[in-house]
Amino acid sequence: MVVHNFFNPLLFVIYSLYYKHKFVNKQKLVVINMGLNDNEEKVLKILEQDPYVSQQFIADKLSISRPAVANLISGLQEKGFILGKPYLLRKEEYLTCVGGANLDYTFILNDEMILETSNPVKSSVSYGGVVRNIAENLARLNNKVSLMSMVGDDSVGESLLKDNKKLMDVFATDKVLNERTGTYYSVIGKDGNMNVGFADMSINLRMNRTWVLEHKRYLNLGSWIIADTNITKDGLEALVEFAKLENKKLAIVGVSGPKMKNMPDDLKGVEIVICNLDESQSYFMSKSNDIENFCRLWLVKGTNKIVVTSGKSGCFYGNQNFIKHQKILEVPDDLVVDVTGAGDAFSAMVIHGLSNGETFEKSVKLGVISSSLTIQSHYSVNQNLSINLVEKEFKNNENL
Ligand SMILES: Nc1ncnc2c1ncn2[C@@H]1O[C@H](COP(=O)(O)OP(=O)(O)OP(=O)(O)O)[C@@H](O)[C@H]1O
Ligand SMILES: [Mg+2]
Repeated sequence: MVVHNFFNPLLFVIYSLYYKHKFVNKQKLVVINMGLNDNEEKVLKILEQDPYVSQQFIADKLSISRPAVANLISGLQEKGFILGKPYLLRKEEYLTCVGGANLDYTFILNDEMILETSNPVKSSVSYGGVVRNIAENLARLNNKVSLMSMVGDDSVGESLLKDNKKLMDVFATDKVLNERTGTYYSVIGKDGNMNVGFADMSINLRMNRTWVLEHKRYLNLGSWIIADTNITKDGLEALVEFAKLENKKLAIVGVSGPKMKNMPDDLKGVEIVICNLDESQSYFMSKSNDIENFCRLWLVKGTNKIVVTSGKSGCFYGNQNFIKHQKILEVPDDLVVDVTGAGDAFSAMVIHGLSNGETFEKSVKLGVISSSLTIQSHYSVNQNLSINLVEKEFKNNENL
């Protein structure tokens, strides 16, 4: 069962009927008011001033319980004083990030990994999930971000919501009863590359078509939707459908080879797909290393823009008119501390560029710079990231 967290604003419209009657036609007010009790009147007054308040806020104001407020509101809906739909929407433009949010345990090996024995490591814990990482990058680049994800009813989920709320809005994220928040364990070699990873992500299976449809009102809060392939295939298909119907720009970012099974077959109407070589190989069931040709294949699937990255080899990117190669910004080996999150930093920066009116070419170059900064940081998301920092590096690397 899905429980919407009560940080959610109450997105209800109060229909003018009541107030029209109250102020324009006193005679009718008597009739209409006959059906309203004291508390119902008070709820309407509060909602008239701020339709976004939470049920808990109203409960505190009226000194009654939250479930009692829920009853009052559903009564008022039945009587037609509050319209459930269409919802009154926030005016702000969110970048809505839809997909995985989890806890990452990272173990950095002191020496080469030896199987069937205990390996000394330096461990750290941070929040992860491709879309959550992208959301954090976008928030650090000063965008207004809404995270639409799922956490379990555990303390990790609580902390994830509480901590991420400082940088982004989490009202579209659900807390799921009897589920655990997704967890990811990775073992990193001394060279900064991952030796092995383990994912406990069963919660992601609930991010399906129904979930997407139930969250339409949150998806409507901006013109960009950024999704990762942690969402089920029918969930991503629903997003593609929604984006086409509502004229939204949809970016789909790959998570891993195995999760490419969730990528829709038809990508017509998708604004951009960003994935790596391994993910492209999985999707097209091919062992080829021809990144440029993968770009062509992705474009045939219908996406408007494509970027395929390949670690140190850089990336190819393109649209229906061109496909180009972009080299990396070299980082000396001794400065590379953890390559985890390079792809997410890259994707976030490309999306930041595109959604802020930069050219595709510049957006990709900024992505290269941002990812080079992330691999020099112990965190999956560089805590010092800012648009000024990235622009400064861009100026310092004119030949990129
Ligand atoms: N060692 C490196 N040095 C410099 N830049 C790098 C390095 N590794 C990755 N990058 C940059 O990050 C971009 C994305 O990297 P990559 O192709 O490894 O993504 P990914 O496989 O999705 O990574 P992630 O593990 O974060 O998901 C590259 O196109 C490149 O610009
Ligand atoms: Mg990646």
